[in-house]
Amino acid sequence: MNKAVRKAVIAGNWKMNKTPAEAKELLNAIAPLVKDAGCDVVACVPYVDLQTALEATAGTNIKIGAENCHWEPSGAFTGEISADMLAAMGVEYVITGHSERRTYFGDTDVTVQKRTRAALDKGLTVIVCVGEYLEQREQGITAELVAMQTKIALQGVSKEELARVIIAYEPVWAIGTGRTATAEQANEVCAVIRGVIKDLYDAEAAEKMVIQYGGSMNAKNAAELLAQPDVDGGLIGGASLKPADFAEIVKAATVG
Ligand code: PGA
Repeated sequence: MNKAVRKAVIAGNWKMNKTPAEAKELLNAIAPLVKDAGCDVVACVPYVDLQTALEATAGTNIKIGAENCHWEPSGAFTGEISADMLAAMGVEYVITGHSERRTYFGDTDVTVQKRTRAALDKGLTVIVCVGEYLEQREQGITAELVAMQTKIALQGVSKEELARVIIAYEPVWAIGTGRTATAEQANEVCAVIRGVIKDLYDAEAAEKMVIQYGGSMNAKNAAELLAQPDVDGGLIGGASLKPADFAEIVKAATVG
């Protein structure tokens, strides 16, 4: 597999952090630090920050994403936001299936598939998260589980649409814990996912597929993780809120 055919994507996942005013301040601090990035740079922000974030990043190389979306265009779904609404705002990216959505808010492989499908229909680029709990790793079922999550999420997605899909491998035990997967562990599972893409589509699709690692990626460990042959970027939580650290990760992706 030739990594050179893929452009790395470094995406921040701000989670439930930052008011609009704080979002503007953070993006204004990040923008000059990443302006020469050789990778794609994305900030996925809380819904209430989207408009401010779009305005603050206009004319920069930072793309804006949401952290989730509903599959119906509109309707009686109190508290939800549709892919249609995001697209109408000019948002370009959305995360689906983040483990915090799966764990705390009842998202399942099936609803992740529906959210992904709706987002693709609206022209968004989707960062689909997959990953195992520690118990599942210890049970030796990581590869099977991640393959299953990937296969279900991609049901009904055409090979052409894959150009707007990024898979983020995020071992749940590494998220927000400061405990990172080793570079070998990260690469091993990213390679499994690439194999699934090859089985579902073909070798060309697998070669082009952007697969991120996420889970306590930071300024110190990013270079080693991003140098792995099957790791094409990162989904960054905590470190995406620190401009210098986030910029360091972007730099590591640019070199890697
Ligand atoms: P973390 O979060 O970098 O804080 O571990 C990653 C994520 O949840 O996407």
